[in-house]
Amino acid sequence: MKNEDTLLRLNGLSKRFFQGAGQTVRAVEKVSFSVRRGEFFGVVGESGCGKSTLGRLILRLIEASEGRVFFNGEDITAASKRRMALLRPSMQMVFQNPFASFDPKMPLGASLEEVARFYGLSRKERPDRILELLDYINLSVDVLPRLPKELSGGQLQRLAIARSLITNPAFIVADEPVSALDVSVQAQLLNLLSDLKRRLNLTMLFISHDIQVVKYLCDRAAVMYMGGVVEIAGVEELFTRPLHPYTRALIASAPKLNGEAPYPVDTPDPKDTPDPVDTPDSMNPWEAWIGCRFAPRCPLRDDRCLSEPSLQAEGGDDHSVACHRNR
Ligand SMILES: Nc1ncnc2c1ncn2[C@@H]1O[C@H](COP(=O)(O)OP(=O)(O)OP(=O)(O)O)[C@@H](O)[C@H]1O
Ligand SMILES: [Mg+2]
Repeated sequence: MKNEDTLLRLNGLSKRFFQGAGQTVRAVEKVSFSVRRGEFFGVVGESGCGKSTLGRLILRLIEASEGRVFFNGEDITAASKRRMALLRPSMQMVFQNPFASFDPKMPLGASLEEVARFYGLSRKERPDRILELLDYINLSVDVLPRLPKELSGGQLQRLAIARSLITNPAFIVADEPVSALDVSVQAQLLNLLSDLKRRLNLTMLFISHDIQVVKYLCDRAAVMYMGGVVEIAGVEELFTRPLHPYTRALIASAPKLNGEAPYPVDTPDPKDTPDPVDTPDSMNPWEAWIGCRFAPRCPLRDDRCLSEPSLQAEGGDDHSVACHRNR
């Protein structure tokens, strides 16, 4: 991949949350990948695997414990508040619940207006920009005087997407943007996003627990398990040739119509399971855990999986996997 094609690069990004009583949560562990200009890059994995934390680290809404974030070639890991304020318009975020992301007492037009003013659009530019965005998301001006509660979840999420586009950002992190919506509305929103991708050449990090949604919308994806990336590939490749046993399990457990048998994943004995929460108690197995973190559930594990870390195989972003048994 040529450097100029890369919009975002993560290098060994980690986040540990320190809780009370000396506990540490390893929410994100040594994540590295690149996102190309104009692509939708999916991040998929089950609840608690660190997807939202990763999205927030990238936008510097929280600070990394280790590792680096490069945006447009610039190391922004330690960028000053002032520098981040300058970069903020080009990196935006869309959240899962649109009702929580708009002021419930403010008419929607005023909310959009406020964001436009905050980012320095002139009084003259603002109405035109808002009309243009309404056109992108297929809503009429009738919504502008209304309050958030007067709209459906799907309509409001469209407006949240419009709001994220006000500044014409180079990059958007969308954290489960369709997960709170009914299935039929989800499909409309996914169509809208892929339409916007084409029209605006958008680059997006698309976070989802639903691998089918990622397959539909994204170009490439990273599969996360317990804070780490276990596999990265183009979505076609990921579905036709999944290499990591966890990816296979995710694909097999996605809703199916043909009654295919699920991929077997062991149910681990809890005492054999690494826990991302460290405690001062040295009996915590995770602290001493050096093997593959999926090994306790893995039907393919052997001694090596329990004794050696399963680092992501080198070889670029085309297809990489962190597995001793499959590479
Ligand atoms: N501010 C915080 N303080 C302490 N622990 C946190 C904090 N934020 C997240 N965590 C923990 O970090 C881990 C990863 O959480 P995260 O929200 O990133 O997962 P997720 O993949 O987004 O899950 P979901 O699919 O449920 O949204 C979890 O164990 C979570 O409890
Ligand atoms: Mg989340």
